Amino acid sequence: MFLKSLTALALASFSAARIILQVPTNPVVGAETDINWSSDSASDPQSFTLFLLDANNLPFGLSANFGEVETSTGGTTVTIPSTVHEGQYVLRAVNSTSVDFVFATSPQFDITT
Ligand SMILES: *[C@@H]1O[C@H](CO)[C@@H](O)[C@H](O)[C@H]1NC(C)=O
Ligand SMILES: *[C@@H]1O[C@H](CO)[C@@H](O)[C@H](O)[C@H]1NC(C)=O
Repeated sequence: MFLKSLTALALASFSAARIILQVPTNPVVGAETDINWSSDSASDPQSFTLFLLDANNLPFGLSANFGEVETSTGGTTVTIPSTVHEGQYVLRAVNSTSVDFVFATSPQFDITT
């Protein structure tokens, strides 16, 4: 009985989205950078919208909307808009039709000029 309920618990936690957003390597304002993620195709949404947020102004500091991406591609190349200031940021994967629904947030990273 005990083991059975533990298994049910483990399975339940697998049904949540498991996208893991990686930190981009040396992102620079105005330049192209690769954004990569890993996912579990069985339980993750087929696509999501990728946001860049100011880490010191969460949850409202939307700095860029990189648009909708296919989860299965595992990565995309974006250009950091020139309107973005040097500072600390996070990437966020959100539901494209309901952007308050967050699938994943990356660790904090620096964008330089
Ligand atoms: C995204 O949001 C829509 C609208 O609320 C909802 O119907 C859909 O199930 C959500 N998708 C996922 C993968 O959570
Ligand atoms: C990251 O994403 C880019 C753009 O899609 C791709 O070219 C690159 O191979 C990916 N890198 C890794 C480590 O998956």
